[in-house]
Amino acid sequence: MINKLFRKKSVDQIIQDAHQGSGLAKVLGVRDLVSLGIAAIVGAGIFSTIGLASYEGGPAISLLFIFTAFACVFTALAYAQFASTVPVSGSAYTYAYVAFGELFAWIIGWALVLEYAVSNTVVAISWSQYFVSMLEGFGIHLPKWLCMAPGYAIDAHDKFLKEGVAALNVADKVGLEAYTTAPRIADIPIIFDFPAGLVTVLVTWLVYIGIKESQRASNIMVMIKIGIIVLVVLGGIFFIKPENWTPFAPNGLQGVMGSVAAVFFAFIGFDSISTTAEECKNPQRDLPRAMILCLIICTVLYVAITLVLTGMVNYTELNVKDPLAFVFKYVGFDRMAGIVSVTSVIAITSALLVYQLAQPRIWMTMSRDGLLSKKFARVHPKYKTPSYATIVTGIVVAIPSLFFKMDFFVDLTSVGTFFAFILVCAGVLYMDYAGLSARSKFRVPYINGKYLIGIGFIAAWVLILRYGQHILAEWQLLSIVDIAEHKSLVLVFWLVWAALAVMGFKYNFSLLPVIGILVNLYLMSELGASNWIIFIAWLFIGLVIYFGYGYRHSKLNVKANEHA
Ligand code: ALA
Repeated sequence: MINKLFRKKSVDQIIQDAHQGSGLAKVLGVRDLVSLGIAAIVGAGIFSTIGLASYEGGPAISLLFIFTAFACVFTALAYAQFASTVPVSGSAYTYAYVAFGELFAWIIGWALVLEYAVSNTVVAISWSQYFVSMLEGFGIHLPKWLCMAPGYAIDAHDKFLKEGVAALNVADKVGLEAYTTAPRIADIPIIFDFPAGLVTVLVTWLVYIGIKESQRASNIMVMIKIGIIVLVVLGGIFFIKPENWTPFAPNGLQGVMGSVAAVFFAFIGFDSISTTAEECKNPQRDLPRAMILCLIICTVLYVAITLVLTGMVNYTELNVKDPLAFVFKYVGFDRMAGIVSVTSVIAITSALLVYQLAQPRIWMTMSRDGLLSKKFARVHPKYKTPSYATIVTGIVVAIPSLFFKMDFFVDLTSVGTFFAFILVCAGVLYMDYAGLSARSKFRVPYINGKYLIGIGFIAAWVLILRYGQHILAEWQLLSIVDIAEHKSLVLVFWLVWAALAVMGFKYNFSLLPVIGILVNLYLMSELGASNWIIFIAWLFIGLVIYFGYGYRHSKLNVKANEHA
């Protein structure tokens, strides 16, 4: 049984399978890859979730963007090594099939659903916010109850009851209006985000009938995205009031780290270009360069935007879902707010499209391996698209986008993606150990971690004992139950570091993937325990599906049985 769970696909077998496939044209260079990367990365994160992050962390969120970018750089290197070794389109799912075997491959594939489909729920909600803002710019006012998740309206109403109208910010007032004006059935207010559901259906339809995101169209959308961010920065600079940057971190380190999920969410997607490995002219050279370039460009843009937003408007006002347009409305520059709204709608649509295309293709790969029902690999005879998988993706994204708050999905997506990133970094260690790295045309630069991982561990503790007495004092006040509930992930982080130090000493682990694992794990441990519980529930559902279906129907299983 254990052997079956960890049955692996060999690199040769995967490459052979891929060659039997479509024989894609090798046309993409660095510039195309950077363009594709930015098309996927820049979306709801910078257009929406940055608002809540700034509200909670203040201007210091700009520093968190830099720190998070580091975690992504180490992961990007690991992705690049895999993509150059196994240059096929299944992304982390395929890599895990090589490195860790079928069970892990399934688990990663299941986590990728969070990265692609669930994150798209956030993108759809963000689209809706900008769309509504754009309509308002044209003097069209949709009823508020038709444009938001019920949770926002209920929260605003509760705040109003508890703290009175004076405590409400702009976003709360909109929520309260939705609550009070909504039609009611049996006294339950009917509130949902109609534009978010509608745009998902429309984009799914486009993807279904085979719209091709040509390189040219993608380049244009990317230009619009970058153009609008540069426009906001340049236009906003004149409205910055430096006093808004003081205090820089109003809620301290806790306030900043509380926004890890939102900030990380903004970077999600750089890995998606690894799925084009079969179509790159020179994947081993261009993929790592493109990923790192994407990360650098996005980090610069994100830091600049954060400083401008928090400089224009006090961070306490930024709890809105369309912050880029909101800040211009706030300072009375309505025309600019209008331009930002219109272009944001176009820019966010392209992100929606990318993920709505990516998710069905990952399901298709998993279905071809026998881990999902054959229906997921069904290709429409006329449109030549994975029709069934596309429709399921549409449903999975559209329905939650009608009813749920964005924040919930931001957290969930981030946990799942951190998890996938950690496994990809760990996969590089496995490749070194199993001698597969010798076949990699690009390798994560090797620095021997034999001593350095352990030295880092000891140095971290010396620093904590020297400068972190207040942290230790806080821990002493916690009961075992509190620790289990809120700090268990921090313990996991230290245990993993200690284990890596020991194993690194034994196997001469490469340092950079280890740093990748640790930085991702650290950021992951900052996400609230409730996110973890939901993620574990998600994994549990995935395992039930695997053991109920994939385990028996896996192609490797069928082949082994035939062989026997
Ligand atoms: N990074 C992507 C976005 O911000 C998920 O929309």
